[in-house]
Amino acid sequence: MPRYSIQNKIVLPFLVLFMAVLIVVPLITIALFDRTYNRQFSRETEGWLKVIKETGYVERPDQVQQAYGVEVMVFGASNALNFTSLDDLSDDGMVNLTTYMKLREARQKITESGDTLVSQNVVLDGIPYKVIYDSLAQGRLYCLLRPMDDIAVARRRLTWLMSGIAVVVISLVALTSNLVGRNLSNPIKNLVQFTRQVAAGKLDGQCNVKSDDEIGDLTTAFNQMTRDLRDSRNELIRAERLATAGRMAASFAHEIRNPLSSMRMLTQMLIQRKDVPPSKREQSMGYILEEIGRIDVIVKGFMDFARPTALELASHDLNDALEEVLNLMEANLNHHQITLVKKFDSELSPIRVDRDKLKQGFMNIMLNAIEAMAEGGTVEVETSRHEDRVQVDVLDTGFGIPAEDVEQLFEPFFTTKVQGSGLGLPNTKRIMEQHGGGVTIKSAEGEGTRVSFWLPLKPN
Ligand SMILES: Nc1ncnc2c1ncn2[C@@H]1O[C@H](COP(=O)(O)OP(=O)(O)OP(=O)(O)O)[C@@H](O)[C@H]1O
Ligand SMILES: [Mg+2]
Repeated sequence: MPRYSIQNKIVLPFLVLFMAVLIVVPLITIALFDRTYNRQFSRETEGWLKVIKETGYVERPDQVQQAYGVEVMVFGASNALNFTSLDDLSDDGMVNLTTYMKLREARQKITESGDTLVSQNVVLDGIPYKVIYDSLAQGRLYCLLRPMDDIAVARRRLTWLMSGIAVVVISLVALTSNLVGRNLSNPIKNLVQFTRQVAAGKLDGQCNVKSDDEIGDLTTAFNQMTRDLRDSRNELIRAERLATAGRMAASFAHEIRNPLSSMRMLTQMLIQRKDVPPSKREQSMGYILEEIGRIDVIVKGFMDFARPTALELASHDLNDALEEVLNLMEANLNHHQITLVKKFDSELSPIRVDRDKLKQGFMNIMLNAIEAMAEGGTVEVETSRHEDRVQVDVLDTGFGIPAEDVEQLFEPFFTTKVQGSGLGLPNTKRIMEQHGGGVTIKSAEGEGTRVSFWLPLKPN
C-alpha cells in the first residue's frame, strides 16, 4: 500500500473535493442558463407569432422582420421556399435549406402536437437561430427565425468565466491546504527526527517547540521525557562508577593486605628479637623486599588498569614484536620443559600499534600459558591475516580453566594463583580494545587453553 504523508492526506481530499465541486457547479450553471433562456425565448417568440397571426401580418413578412428584428421564411406544401427575409444565404444554405431548417421534423411535430407551436434550434451559415413553426393554409409552413448569436456569445463568456474561477479557486485551495499541511507536518517531522536521535542514544539535544498547539504540547512532553531519561542515565552511570570504584578499592586493599601483614610480622620480629642471627636477619630483610616488590607490581598493574595511558602508535611488524617477547621467555620455557611451536604468517603486512603495550599484553598471555604448564607441555603461537585484521592465537596444553571461571577471567583481580594480581588479562583486554581489537578465551579443563587476540589493520 502506498504511504501518504500527513501533508498529502490533508491536501489531496481537499483538492479532489474542490475539483469535483468546481467542475459540477459550472456545468449545472450553464445547463440552467440554457434552459431558462430557451424557455423565455420560446415563450416570447410564440407571443410574437400569435400577435402576427392575429393582426394578419403573416402575409407581410418584411414588416414582421422590421418590427421584431427576426427573420421570416415561408415554405410551400412541397417545402419549396416561397419567401425569405434572409436574402444573403450561401449557395449551400439555399440548396440544403429543407434539411437545415429541419422542415420534415417540424411538420411531423406539428401533426403530432395539434395546436401547440413547435420550435427547433437550427444553424444557417454558422449562425444559430431558434425557429418557431406554424402551419398555414394549403400546407404552407410559416417560420419565424430568432437569431441566437448573442446568447451563444453570452454562453461562451459564462463558460470561460466559470473555468477561470475554477482554476483560480483550485490553485488557492491547493496553496492554502499545502500551507496548512506543511504547518502541521513540519513540527511532526521535526519531532520524528528528534525521536530517532534519542533512540540512537543522543540524549543531550532538545526538540525546538515551534507551535503553540497539541503538537507543541507533545514536543514539550517529549523534551521533558528526554531530560528525565538523560538524568536517570547519568545517575546510573554515576552509581555504576561508584560501585566499580568501591569494588576495585576493596580488591586492591585485599591484595596488598597480605604482603603488608607479612612485612609487619617480619619487621616486628626483627625489632623485638635482638638475638636474631645476621643470616636470618638478612633472609627476613630479603622477604620484606620481596613483599615490597609484590606490592609494587600490584600498584603498577592497578595504575595501568585504572588510568591507561594514550597509545603511541607506529607501524610495526607484528611477528617481530612477538618474536622479541618469545626470545625473552626462552629461558623460562626451557626451565618448565615447554616446547614452543611458532606458526607465523610471513605475509603479514606491518600494522600501526603501540609496540610496548602489545608486547605487554602478549607477555601476560604467555606467562599465563607457562604458569598453566608446571609439568611441561607445548605452547603454539600462530599469526594469521584476515580481511580487516590480524590475529594471534596462543594454544597451551596446560590444565585449562573450569567453565565457571571463564566468565570472570577479564574481571579485575580475578586470580586463582597465590602470587597472582588478577590484572594480567583485564589489562591485556584493555590494551587490545584501545587498539580497536579484542581478546577471547576458549578452554577445556584438563586439555588446554586457546587465547586469541586480534588487531584491526586500520586502527580507529
Ligand atoms: N592459559 C591459562 N590456563 C589456565 N588458566 C588460565 C590461563 N590464563 C588465565 N588463566 C586463569 O585466569 C586467571 C586470571 O589471569 P590473569 O592473567 O588475569 O591473572 P593472574 O595470572 O592470576 O595474575 P597475574 O597475571 O598478575 O600474574 C588466572 O589466575 C588463571 O586462573
Ligand atoms: Mg596472568
